[in-house]
Amino acid sequence: MEAFSFVLCCCTLFSALMICSATDTIPAGGLISDGQTVASSGGSFELGFFDPGNSKRYLGIWYKKIASGTVVWVANRDAPLNDTSGLLQLSSSGMLVLSSGTKESILPIWSSTSSHDPTENPVARLLDTGNLVVFAGNSILWQSFDYIGDNFLAGMKFGRNLVTGHDNYLTSWKSTTDPSSGDYTNKLDHSGYPQIFLRKGSVIQFRTGPWNGLRFSGMPSLKPNPIYTFEFVYNDQEIYYKYELINSSVISRMVLSQLGILQRFTWINRSEEWSLYVTAQMDNCDRFSVCGAYGTCSINNSPPCGCLRGFKPKFPSNWEYGDWSGGCVRKTELSCKDGEGFIKAPSVKLPDTRNSVFNRTMDLKECEKWCLKNCSCTAYSSLDIRGTGCLIWFDELIDIRQYDQDGQDLYIRMAASELGGSSGEMTRRIKIIVVVVLSVAVVIGLIYAFFAWKNKWLKLKEQMTQSQRRDVPNEEDLELPLISFNDTAEATSNFSIDNKLGEGGYGPVFRGKLRDGQEIAVKRLSKVSRQGADQFKNEISLIAKLQHRNLVKLLGCCIQGDEKMLIYEYMPNRSLDSFIFDKGQSYSLDWPKRCKIINGIARGLLYLHQDSRLRIIHRDLKASNILLDYEMNAKISDFGMARSFGGDETGASTGRVVGTYGYMSPEYAIDGIFSVKSDVFSFGVLVLEIISGKRNRGFVHPDHKLNLLGHAWKLFTEGQAESLMDTPVRDSCDLSEVLRFTQVGLLCVQQSPEDRPSMASAVLMLSSEVALPQPKEPGFFTDRQMVGTDSSSSKMDICSTNELTLTMFTPR
Ligand SMILES: *[C@@H]1O[C@H](CO)[C@@H](O)[C@H](O)[C@H]1NC(C)=O
Ligand SMILES: *[C@@H]1O[C@H](CO)[C@@H](O)[C@H](O)[C@H]1NC(C)=O
Ligand SMILES: *[C@@H]1O[C@H](CO)[C@@H](O)[C@H](O)[C@H]1NC(C)=O
Ligand SMILES: *[C@@H]1O[C@H](CO)[C@@H](O)[C@H](O)[C@H]1NC(C)=O
Ligand SMILES: *[C@@H]1O[C@H](CO)[C@@H](O)[C@H](O)[C@H]1NC(C)=O
Repeated sequence: MEAFSFVLCCCTLFSALMICSATDTIPAGGLISDGQTVASSGGSFELGFFDPGNSKRYLGIWYKKIASGTVVWVANRDAPLNDTSGLLQLSSSGMLVLSSGTKESILPIWSSTSSHDPTENPVARLLDTGNLVVFAGNSILWQSFDYIGDNFLAGMKFGRNLVTGHDNYLTSWKSTTDPSSGDYTNKLDHSGYPQIFLRKGSVIQFRTGPWNGLRFSGMPSLKPNPIYTFEFVYNDQEIYYKYELINSSVISRMVLSQLGILQRFTWINRSEEWSLYVTAQMDNCDRFSVCGAYGTCSINNSPPCGCLRGFKPKFPSNWEYGDWSGGCVRKTELSCKDGEGFIKAPSVKLPDTRNSVFNRTMDLKECEKWCLKNCSCTAYSSLDIRGTGCLIWFDELIDIRQYDQDGQDLYIRMAASELGGSSGEMTRRIKIIVVVVLSVAVVIGLIYAFFAWKNKWLKLKEQMTQSQRRDVPNEEDLELPLISFNDTAEATSNFSIDNKLGEGGYGPVFRGKLRDGQEIAVKRLSKVSRQGADQFKNEISLIAKLQHRNLVKLLGCCIQGDEKMLIYEYMPNRSLDSFIFDKGQSYSLDWPKRCKIINGIARGLLYLHQDSRLRIIHRDLKASNILLDYEMNAKISDFGMARSFGGDETGASTGRVVGTYGYMSPEYAIDGIFSVKSDVFSFGVLVLEIISGKRNRGFVHPDHKLNLLGHAWKLFTEGQAESLMDTPVRDSCDLSEVLRFTQVGLLCVQQSPEDRPSMASAVLMLSSEVALPQPKEPGFFTDRQMVGTDSSSSKMDICSTNELTLTMFTPR
């Protein structure tokens, strides 16, 4: 109270002591009024009043050097000022007080708290890290870094001070123009072994998993990298996670968006925009406890949920229609009798640790004993993934997911009968069988190896005589099987016209069957191919590294003399366009199938953009490039136009625009600027085409001149979005789902690339009930807006539509 009244008289006494913007400090008694700013000494950050777009004034800190001026911290987020009368003052006791300066009501709107005693000569300084600190001598009275908003900056300690009980956590903004506390929080939980929960209100959405010594168990993407270093500290005083930038001229921040998505962005100087570096919630399996207790989620499976070994679905009928939340139950109950043991679940995200206990010094053997001794212990694992410490769980195990790599081994308690070990007689018999089988296998293996070697040697000799020596690539270098010309010719009945599937940009495609029965599609590159053998080899090995269930798989290649061929898996159901745009066929694609196809395309694209080692922009996503397998799973094909880009870039520009009208984003078609967001645009077009069963290009409507995008947007803004649906969709749909998909489609085709979501957000929006933003006007919504609608301009190089275009990478 005293401090406030003191401030009041200071107002008049020190009003001459206004701060000029050249300084980074506010002395005791100093004032900042709306319009004035304080800049940090290195010029990285600035403190002042701003309007986020809701006609209210806030005191905040923002980036000063970069064009976006992104606000990273707001003092009075829940107590906005209505006008420009705001005043920030530092009281002589070291308290920052924000008040509305009108004479009648000089009420403090916001103030910094301080647990310290009043001191002499306090000073507030904006540091170059973006931290606003009140110093008294060398001690810190208060700092803004202890009050994180929605931005998690380098140097902040995210977590809990165990001495004072102060919790420092992220709270989202309500909307992009309203900094008041939104629904989402991201907060450390220390009720068991510490982990972080992202919640909407009180409902958990995502869990990072416990710290495993190297990273959070549920964030395999958190790895040593060139941009930042990170650490997790857990001692008697505090538990926190923190990161530091390796080179402070590279700007990077984490932010919890108003949609509840936790993402890291880095600033790209060249394009002057924030580029998405990583999203914490990668996919569907990151939804909290999606598979229920003892369930395990694997993104490579369909359906993604399964039960841990020794468990079965609790409500099998619910599982059939995709409700896995009931989880799984043991096939055999535990009884805590002798003979119980553990089954290893390899490479998983460790389950929720709220009900866990740990010991830092035990090794894995002691850990097992500790768990076995206590009847209510259900699982154990090492605390540190490098093999030390012990973490044991009680009660149900929830929110487990499977990783292909970088997961941790979890040992789950099982009844004796589930362990598979049995009496002496049985084991002896098994041992004998194993020995016999092994020795037979070794003999067969040796014989086979001899013949294979002989065969290979003969083939190599044959190839060397037929072609120049340097054209024969080394199979080991290629990581991809070489298939001989003779075998390929035989598989396709000597490239017979009957087996021809189509003609792509780089040559004809044939259907074939290898001797082992495998059906293949062979792309025979025309002889006048621009590439040499080395280049071809190099690019093939790039494609070979792309492995995802929603990408067409490259099985091998064939190089002999001038002949270069790519051998892909054969897709019996051909391409998506032959279904959705065909009156007869479209009935076989009901809404659940279309929904699965859209989700498949989204995941495949997310993998290309973000998860694959290469990061790839496809550049020619369209219905005829989506192939369908026996089970109507979507597979993206044709990487002929694709560009790979490095870890820190998300796009580039080109003078030579390739792609297909109707799917090209405006910035790409007109300016040749392509980025992951141009693929997002094409994805949006595809979504709308799949829902409506109409082609974007060539769409006609009796009432207006809009194309499909414009038509969809018009219907959406008029609240008529459901009339966009194709008849087979209407007959089988879940209306709210179709409307959500339509809205996501429209968000993806927005005019401005910045407005379009990333594929990570799109996947999240498709799969969960997050609140979606209102889409703005789409790009190219009338056909006439397009460059050269009817004839391709000379700059353009349009690929012919063909059912199966399987071509090569163009060089970067
Ligand atoms: C701003 O206006 C609202 C509504 O009139 C009022 O409740 C609030 O107290 C005002 N805030 C200030 C700081 O004057
Ligand atoms: C930091 O990055 C800048 C710009 O890329 C570079 O000029 C500088 O040498 C880097 N500094 C260090 C210490 O690596
Ligand atoms: C980006 O631009 C800012 C401001 O011009 C500069 O300070 C910084 O060093 C640049 N960073 C890099 C990585 O070039
Ligand atoms: C951890 O385990 C070791 C070895 O069993 C034991 O000596 C130690 O007291 C335990 N620590 C705690 C905190 O329980
Ligand atoms: C088992 O562990 C729980 C939780 O730590 C504990 O409360 C209980 O006493 C233990 N039981 C035995 C028999 O050690």
